[in-house]
Amino acid sequence: MKLTIIGTGYVGLVTGTCFAEVGHHVCCVDNDDAKVKMLQSGRIPIYEPGLEELVQKNAAAGRLSFSNNTAEGVAKSDVVFIAVPTPPQPDGSVDMSFIERVARDIAAAMTDYKIIVDKSTVPVQTGDKVAETIKRYCKARVDFDVVSNPEFLREGFAVEDLMKPDRIVVGVRTQRPVPALKEVYAPFNAPIIVTDINSAELIKHASNSFLALKISYINAISVICEATGANVQEVANGMGMDERIGRRFLNASLGFGGSCFPKDLSAFIKIAEQLRYDFGLLKEVQKINAAQMDRFVKKIADTLWVLKGKKIGVLGLAFKQNTDDIRTSPALELCHRLQKEGAILRVHDPKAMEKAKADLHNVTYVDDMNEVAEGCDALVIATEWEEFKKLDLERARKSLSHPIMFDGRNLFDPQEMERLGFIYKSIGR
Ligand code: UDX
Repeated sequence: MKLTIIGTGYVGLVTGTCFAEVGHHVCCVDNDDAKVKMLQSGRIPIYEPGLEELVQKNAAAGRLSFSNNTAEGVAKSDVVFIAVPTPPQPDGSVDMSFIERVARDIAAAMTDYKIIVDKSTVPVQTGDKVAETIKRYCKARVDFDVVSNPEFLREGFAVEDLMKPDRIVVGVRTQRPVPALKEVYAPFNAPIIVTDINSAELIKHASNSFLALKISYINAISVICEATGANVQEVANGMGMDERIGRRFLNASLGFGGSCFPKDLSAFIKIAEQLRYDFGLLKEVQKINAAQMDRFVKKIADTLWVLKGKKIGVLGLAFKQNTDDIRTSPALELCHRLQKEGAILRVHDPKAMEKAKADLHNVTYVDDMNEVAEGCDALVIATEWEEFKKLDLERARKSLSHPIMFDGRNLFDPQEMERLGFIYKSIGR
């Protein structure tokens, strides 16, 4: 099929590339000229495993192209996906101006029937507003359908999640666009759920909020574990074996971050408020998440007593593993908190150091993870990178003035760390 994607952020770029990979002809549109040029030259502006190779392969095969012209994209395809940012506003509500702008641009360019598919995460009832806008601004007065098709990919695993989705959600106002959407997704061999448009929009916010709730739940359990000498990982394993609960997203940590969970939680709370429902449950999820960071900082301060002038090594700056994304990163927040207390930091991240440099100043960026502990009073794990598990612990122990490690991601076994001579403090164990 011929498909156009407006917006080449995480969702747009990965979606467009994977659509091309399964054989569709895809035009990705972005209004950022520099980004379009970069993509046209086969490079990508983010780190995402496997993505750059797929972009190059599909561009070379003539199935994937990039343009800065929405009208050109709309003319080329029957199905147009919107994948532009929906950033938070200061009060937590969603800034819909990018979606509205794109809806108007699409409307202005339409000369025949189009299916306009919203992939961005939006408040429930956005589909109706997009449809109204298109109707208002479409001079050609042609037929169209608006569809909601939320994306559930995780950064760092985006290609994998897109190529092998658990489910495809298609929310429609009429049945007319359903066969086309089924054709788009047929190569992915995943169950397709067709719902009304409001339900599809809600599925996205409800899913992300539930996952955040799962993390805050296990983080709350971690507090009980610390107070009683239980081990949160054992508890999570035991809970997770119940198929109704499941083990995933039950890893206790210094808190969740990223460009989705914090923003989607605030947005969902705000949406509920506008619908006159006080979503206290989700407010508690936010509270637990914030408290988890406070508790971790306190743990470090209580152990080291005075932080002013202390040298601390920090492993991890990205908000999670396999990405260079530092947006709302708990690791960066931790660095800022430690700096505020007067600590001197040596930091390392396998992929996020370049992006971190714009936000985190007056620290030493260290290229080799095994050199971070050099001359430090303590070492902190802030991001769950797999490769941190391969840290040379013997060298780290010798490099530290005192062998103290704070692990905000529970990467190591407490007994083993004690055996190796570390004072090892993790989460809920
Ligand atoms: C999330 C959703 O998973 C995805 O479906 C949606 O499309 C976008 O939002 P993402 O933000 O890329 O994806 O990352 P995710 O893997 O969900 O992790 C989010 C945060 O939670 C990270 O900071 C991560 O470290 C943290 N986390 C995750 C935990 O602290 N514990 C866990 O068990 C899992």
